[in-house]
Order: sequence, then structure tokens, then C-alpha cells
Amino acid sequence: MSEEILSIKNLTVDFGGVRAVNDVSLSLRKGEFIGLIGPNGAGKTTIFNLITNAFQPTSGEIIFKGQSILGKSPDQICRLGISRTFQNIRLFPQMTAYENVELGLHSTPRYSLAEAFIRTPRAARIEAETRKRAHELLEMVNLSQHANARASSLPYGLQRRLELARAMATSPELLLLDEPAAGMNEDECKELVQLIRQIHNTMGYTMIMIEHHMNVVMDLCRDSLIYVLNLGSLLAVGSPAEIQNNPDVIRAYLGERKNGRDNAHA
Ligand SMILES: Nc1ncnc2c1ncn2[C@@H]1O[C@H](COP(=O)(O)OP(=O)(O)OP(=O)(O)O)[C@@H](O)[C@H]1O
Ligand SMILES: [Mg+2]
Repeated sequence: MSEEILSIKNLTVDFGGVRAVNDVSLSLRKGEFIGLIGPNGAGKTTIFNLITNAFQPTSGEIIFKGQSILGKSPDQICRLGISRTFQNIRLFPQMTAYENVELGLHSTPRYSLAEAFIRTPRAARIEAETRKRAHELLEMVNLSQHANARASSLPYGLQRRLELARAMATSPELLLLDEPAAGMNEDECKELVQLIRQIHNTMGYTMIMIEHHMNVVMDLCRDSLIYVLNLGSLLAVGSPAEIQNNPDVIRAYLGERKNGRDNAHA
């Protein structure tokens, strides 16, 4: 068994009178892939926001690679190796697909402004490496032929894949995917499952995926665990079969769904 990379302990956050996350604990081993599901408003995205320190928990602890990450800046979190995609796509719409990925690569600059200004050989070499890496990332998500297209001109499904490439640009060890299949049709979902599986297998990332498309979740988590959140609390943890047959999960969540598709997000 590989070592633990992320440990969330008794995480709780209150927003005014609303307890969005209630005493949630979970632990992930290096390279593990887990699914996080639950009804709208269950607290799934809030957990990602807490891991990336968009805000502080009311109580609890988050340990990444052996150290507490509470209170660290988004930049520090990124440098430690945590990256995410967003439920509502966050790209620079007027920039090209290539530029969006390149910007992600520059979020961890390896040469100074002065070096860039006088174009030292080192800065030039790193720039060439950056270009190569950006194209590799675009290729990885099958967007090479759209490298020069404006992000805003890409169909929605391709924008989601571009977000994935941008998130990978910082070379994360932990990658958080917030509804990567939102708005996708069944064929696009199938392609995405293959892509995410390939990324997980080849890059060795530890991954948490929030998703409402049950086919996507059950397929990608077939060898791993699914965590179910309801009203901020963990309702169940188990294999896809265990989760699909859990009466509490059916009552709180799966029972409302039609054909495995998300009603609220479709
Ligand atoms: N910054 C915030 N300020 C106040 N309330 C918030 C904030 N962020 C989330 N909430 C509330 O916390 C609860 C959980 O929201 P969250 O976005 O985590 O749900 P979710 O499980 O991701 O739902 P969905 O499936 O719809 O994306 C909701 O009641 C939401 O309104
Ligand atoms: Mg959400």
C-alpha cells in the first residue's frame, strides 16, 4: 500500500447559520482515485474550496504530504502540488487554448523577470520547454488542433478538457475535478471517462472527482471508493456496487435520478 497523501480530519464549516460541511474525515493514498457524490448543496464543492484554501474551516484539519495546509495561500497550495478544475469553467475566454495552458505553466515561474528581459540562454531554454510542454498537455487532452482557437469559441465539452489541461500545467500531485462531465452528452461522457482514466494511469496523480453523471462515476471508480455527502455530512463510503445498493444513498440521492443523468445540471 502506498503512503497517505491527503488526510482530512473532522472538517466543519459554517456559513452564517448554514453548516455546509459537517465533521467530514477522509484519507487518500498516493495515486488513489475517489469519487465524491451527493445532492445539490451537499457540500462537495465546499470541500474542494477548503482543500485549496479559498476559505478557512470552522474546525478540523487538512494534512497534505504530512503538513497542515490550513492558512496557506493559493500560490503555496499550488506549489505544494494541488490543482483543481471548477464547476463553472474558469478560463481566459479571449485567450487561445494554447495561451490558457501556457499561463498555467507560468504560474510556477522558473526564471526571474530580469532573466526574461535580457533573454538569458537559460530563460530562452525554459521558454522553449514551456512551449513544448503546453503543446504536450493540449495533445494529452486531444486539443492539439484547437491550440490557436480562442477558448470562448470552443464547444463546451472542449472547454472542459482545456480546463483539465490548464489544471495539469502546474504538475500537481493531487488533482481535484469538480464536475468535469457537467453539460456533456453521453458520447462526450464516454470520451471523458477514457481521457480521465488515461490521465490517472499515466500521470500518477491522486484524484478526487465530484460528478453527478452516475455512469461516469461508477465507471471511473470501478476499482476504488465513492464517498457520498448529504447535508454536509458523509452518508456512505463504498464501492460502486455498495453505493448503488445502499438504501440511505438511494433515499437521499440516487432515487431522484433518471437514467444516471443529473437533473439539476443537465
Ligand atoms: N461562500 C459561501 N458562502 C455562503 N454559503 C455557501 C458558500 N459556499 C457554499 N455555500 C453553501 O454551502 C452549501 C454547500 O454548497 P456546495 O457548493 O459545496 O454544494 P455542492 O455539493 O457542490 O452542490 P452542487 O452539486 O449543486 O454543486 C450550500 O448550501 C451553499 O449555498
Ligand atoms: Mg458543487
